[in-house]
Amino acid sequence: MHQTLIRNMWYVAGWSEEFEPGKLSGQTIVGLPVVLWRADAGPDAGHVVALEGRCCHKRMPLASGKLTKDGTLECAYHGLCFDSTGRCVKIPMQPGKPIPSRAKVHPYPVIEQDGLVWVWMGVGEPGAPRPPHVPEMQSAGWECIHQPNNTVAANYLLLIENLLDISHFYPLHDGNIGDAAHSEIPVEFDFSPIAGNRSIRCIREAKDYHHPPYLADFFGYELVDRFHTHAMVSPGIVRVDLRCAPPGQLGTDAERGYILTHMITPIDETHHNWRIGVTCKAAHRWPSDPSLSAARRIADRFPSVVAEDLWALTEQQKMFDLGDERYPGEMHLRSDTALLKAREIVRDLVAAEAQAPARQAAEAAA
Ligand code: FES
Ligand SMILES: [Fe+2]
Repeated sequence: MHQTLIRNMWYVAGWSEEFEPGKLSGQTIVGLPVVLWRADAGPDAGHVVALEGRCCHKRMPLASGKLTKDGTLECAYHGLCFDSTGRCVKIPMQPGKPIPSRAKVHPYPVIEQDGLVWVWMGVGEPGAPRPPHVPEMQSAGWECIHQPNNTVAANYLLLIENLLDISHFYPLHDGNIGDAAHSEIPVEFDFSPIAGNRSIRCIREAKDYHHPPYLADFFGYELVDRFHTHAMVSPGIVRVDLRCAPPGQLGTDAERGYILTHMITPIDETHHNWRIGVTCKAAHRWPSDPSLSAARRIADRFPSVVAEDLWALTEQQKMFDLGDERYPGEMHLRSDTALLKAREIVRDLVAAEAQAPARQAAEAAA
């Protein structure tokens, strides 16, 4: 696998509820240590703060430190204290002495929206675009169930490829959501930008289509018109929309469906975090037991599906780790169109970042 880590990007550091006031969260995102917390004092009270997670003094992980009463972060080793901008405001072993200008750690911009905490891992101020919105995840009239985080021992691009490729439903998910007919629905590709990002949309539209048993169970319809899209909005988020209704009734009150959001946060080249949100209209119930919401019923099916994907992703990664001696390279099919595009977008973004310092130097010299 080529170099895939992109720093100039927004990534999800967690669901909002993962950041309790005053609790430190140490993470590695795109190979960089980060410490995050929800401030409960000072000018940032209530907001999530993110700083470089490695102390500028002797590299101690700042997540092993503690928050002081005045809201600064105290390193666990020698007690240097940092404010929410990353500036060192106290050096205990040098009382009364000026604080050197190099005594600071890098602050990372944070945006909290739709129940998610996003962090910008680039250098300097984030340019456009902002993190993509999924307003339904936190809107009245909708229910979003937050699946717990999965840490996956595989490159994050393998997950994006998996999510854009439903031709693996059979056999990987056989006996679960496995559905060979599903992958026979013709797919259209749309590579136009979404929310300012280079994006990929796989669109499957079917009329008078017999739902596989699990979808009939979710929605109560056996014969449907169905509109189904899988979109890599950015390398940090893939969104799946499914809308279905009895023939001729899409767009009416009879329509049912879900939005699955997959938040993908690279840790390093061979690990990533994967969070999933399952969102449905709050009024939609599970037809077999209306005491359960549709979102709850669908979310309850997820862990077993995810386990099957996790198995495939980690097995693929083991093959990458062995190297390609005697392997002639992957043989791609039309169903791999989207994943090849995803690789191209990631390659381009990585290359653009590699050139950025040279370009900035040239602009500065001009
Ligand atoms: S390593 Fe952080 S204060 Fe020394
Ligand atoms: Fe899958």
